[in-house]
Amino acid sequence: MKALIIGGAGFIGSNLVEKLINKNKEVCVIDNLSRKGTLELKKKIKFDSKYEFKNIDINNFNKLFNYFKTKNFSHIYLLAGQVAVTTSLSNPRLDFNSNALGCFNVLEAIRKARSSAKLIFSSTNKVYGKLDKLKTGLDNKSGYYLKKFKKGIDENYPVDFVTPYGCSKGVGDFYCQDYFKNFNINTVVFRQSCIYGRMQLGIEDQGWIAWFIIASLLNKNIKIYGDGNQVRDALFADDLIDAYLKAANSSKANGKVYNIGGGYKNRISINNLVSILEKKLNIKINVKYYKERKGDQKVFISNNDKAKKDFNWYPKTKFDNGLNHTIRWIVDNLDFIKKINRL
Ligand SMILES: NC(=O)c1ccc[n+]([C@@H]2O[C@H](COP(=O)([O-])OP(=O)(O)OC[C@H]3O[C@@H](n4cnc5c(N)ncnc54)[C@H](O)[C@@H]3O)[C@@H](O)[C@H]2O)c1
Repeated sequence: MKALIIGGAGFIGSNLVEKLINKNKEVCVIDNLSRKGTLELKKKIKFDSKYEFKNIDINNFNKLFNYFKTKNFSHIYLLAGQVAVTTSLSNPRLDFNSNALGCFNVLEAIRKARSSAKLIFSSTNKVYGKLDKLKTGLDNKSGYYLKKFKKGIDENYPVDFVTPYGCSKGVGDFYCQDYFKNFNINTVVFRQSCIYGRMQLGIEDQGWIAWFIIASLLNKNIKIYGDGNQVRDALFADDLIDAYLKAANSSKANGKVYNIGGGYKNRISINNLVSILEKKLNIKINVKYYKERKGDQKVFISNNDKAKKDFNWYPKTKFDNGLNHTIRWIVDNLDFIKKINRL
């Protein structure tokens, strides 16, 4: 069992690396270290001496292919990519190259190297688009809610690629499904909701839960795009890693797509998070409201039933517990975060 984690220096990747190394698995990591702070995070969590690291950009097919030829991976986790909707709008080519072409290159490298590795790909709930045809209501306390789909959105909901990020991730998502059908490569696609947890270097454009904690602790203004009643189902990173490992070991998951999120019980609105943080941190947070962002969903809740049925996965960490862990990690590492993000 040898695992390759592509994007293994990032937030989710670091959590996965940590888990696999603690289980004494053999791990290799590829990352181009383009995300600010990844080089420092990699050193900080002190696992980099325990795995083989290659600085490879997944845009570079030849490098990727030559590397795959020399290895015999059992599992490949593709977590690398351009992760912010805002950046995809300001630099759609970078976004396309990292997410669409990058995923295609990984699939092609597996195919051409005749690798038997199983690929787990992190897609996103953004492939369902803005969801503006869904009827929503507004509860003054808890934010927007879905009038139908009480258990959340499942995988049968029609995709609608909106924003370059939605398109580029959607391309990777569909290519993974197709390479299973046409080339017998075992792929699993996770359409992930909002993930939060330890080692997340949240910034204003991505990783909003971590960013709200960091900004609050540093007494910075928090910008909210829209009315702040948008609701997400937050999934603690440890639970996502548990889902990766369960899907990796389940032949039932091969060729399938799963919505993976915190689910109905872990839903949280943006305004609610501000109030919760004010109480937990005992501070007043300065919030300013701006026009809503393109493609933003009013509410997304993942229906996780398919993952429960196929590989017995469901989110175990209650939002309050996950948030406490995340706050603790950020408090303990605030100087480090300040330094890398020049805050
Ligand atoms: N964090 C979330 O809430 C969330 C939600 C849905 C989907 N996802 C997806 O999960 C994956 C991991 O997200 P994350 O939060 O850990 O992001 P992250 O930015 O912390 O990690 C991504 C890693 O990929 C690397 N990378 C970027 N482009 C690359 C390239 N071309 N070649 C090689 N390496 C490259 C970066 O340096 C970084 O270390 C991403 O694909 C993201 O789209 C994340």
